[in-house]
Amino acid sequence: MIQVRQKEESIKANMKQYGIESHYLDVLVSDFSLPLWRNDLKFDAIITDPPYGVREPTEKIGIEKENYTLAEDYLPNHVPSKVEYGLSHIYSDLLNFAATHLHIGRRLVCWYPLVRSEFEASQLPSHPCLRLLASSEQVLSRLVSRRLLTFEKISDAVPDVPLDPNAAHHNFRRAKKAEEIAINNIRRAQKVSNLK
Ligand SMILES: C[S@@+](CC[C@H](N)C(=O)[O-])C[C@H]1O[C@@H](n2cnc3c(N)ncnc32)[C@H](O)[C@@H]1O
Repeated sequence: MIQVRQKEESIKANMKQYGIESHYLDVLVSDFSLPLWRNDLKFDAIITDPPYGVREPTEKIGIEKENYTLAEDYLPNHVPSKVEYGLSHIYSDLLNFAATHLHIGRRLVCWYPLVRSEFEASQLPSHPCLRLLASSEQVLSRLVSRRLLTFEKISDAVPDVPLDPNAAHHNFRRAKKAEEIAINNIRRAQKVSNLK
C-alpha cells in the first residue's frame, strides 16, 4: 500500500507549528549513499532519523548484476534499481558524512535501533573524529529500543574509515525479524490451541 502524506504533513508545516518557519530554507531529496555535496560544505548540525528496515526498507540505488550497462534508448525513462543498504553501511556513511561536513564543536544527532539485551556502549557507532556525548534510550518493546545518539565533531583530520569498526554489531534488523517470527509463531500456536 502506498502511503500518501497530507499537504500539511511536511517539514515546513512542522516548523510553522513550532514558530520557527523563518529558519526553513528548502528540502532536497536524494540517495544518501551517493553524496552530492562539495567536500568543503560545512553544517552547524545534522539531525536525522535513518531507516531501520522495519517500516521503511533500507535501500540504495544500485544493481546486483556485474558490468551492467543500460541501452541509451532506455535512459530517458529509466527508474534505477535498488539494492540492500545494510545498517552497518548506513551508520558508517552517516558518521563519515558528519566527520567531513560538520564544523568543529558542532553536533550529529541520530536515532540508533538495537536489541536491548545486546546493548554495550562500546559497540555503538563510532568515528575517530566524533565524540559520543549522550546516548538516551527510548524503549520500543520488551526486546528492542532505540537510542538518541549525540556526537560532537572533535577533529578535522578525517581518516579513511569506510566502515565503522563496530559495524558488525549493528544487527537490529535481523533481531527485529527474529522477534516478528517469534510473535507470529506464538499467535499461530495460540490459534491452534483455541481451535482444539
Ligand atoms: C525512519 S524514517 C524517517 C521518518 C521521519 N523522521 C518522519 O518523521 O517522517 C527513514 C527515512 O529514510 C528514508 N530513506 C531510506 N533509504 C534512504 C536512502 N538510501 N537515502 C536517503 N533516504 C533514505 C526513507 O524514505 C524514510 O523516509
